Amino acid sequence: MTVVLLISGSTRAASTNSAALRTVSAIAPDGVETVWYDGLADLPAFAPDDDSTAHPAVVALREQLSRADAVLFSTPEYAGTLPGSLKNLLDWTVGAGDLYGKPVAWITVAPEGRGDGATATLRSVLGYVGADIDPDACRRLPVPREGVGPDGLVADPEFRSGATAVLRGLARHAATATS
Ligand SMILES: Cc1cc2nc3c(=O)[nH]c(=O)nc-3n(C[C@H](O)[C@H](O)[C@H](O)COP(=O)(O)O)c2cc1C
Repeated sequence: MTVVLLISGSTRAASTNSAALRTVSAIAPDGVETVWYDGLADLPAFAPDDDSTAHPAVVALREQLSRADAVLFSTPEYAGTLPGSLKNLLDWTVGAGDLYGKPVAWITVAPEGRGDGATATLRSVLGYVGADIDPDACRRLPVPREGVGPDGLVADPEFRSGATAVLRGLARHAATATS
């Protein structure tokens, strides 16, 4: 079983990024277990002096990252880059190396021509922390706001087949990385 931690960079209730990852979870193939990370809004602002102390939200983040074989992100762009809350999460992983060597990928749900600043920063920061970026599993799968159904999921078959390919690819990459 490959465990994939899903991290949305949005804390918005009706988030398209979270809906995309919820849909990934709903269609996860046999052999892949997805785990939802829901602690983004609870993380304290990163403080280097507190890096080794046991803030419960930071401990929970580190435990979830440690248990995951891979991490899949989906994030909005805010002001041309990552939302501060997601960058804050990533900052907490620098000192302890929680993402070092961890297979990672991301889905971009913004339409063509949007969100590229966030993607560039995510790539750069994940590279900085030594994550094992799987370029083949990083895909743009646009999700307009009206594409999220009342069940909170994305029904579009094109999105679903793309998301399945992303998850399978990342899981395969994680399996290869550990073998
Ligand atoms: C504070 C703020 C800043 C934003 N800045 C950008 C931006 O720089 N570029 C962009 O393409 N969209 C920007 N947007 C639009 C969001 O990326 C877009 O609404 C996205 O769908 C939000 O993701 P979510 O649906 O997962 O919450 C911004 C939205 C907010 C709230």
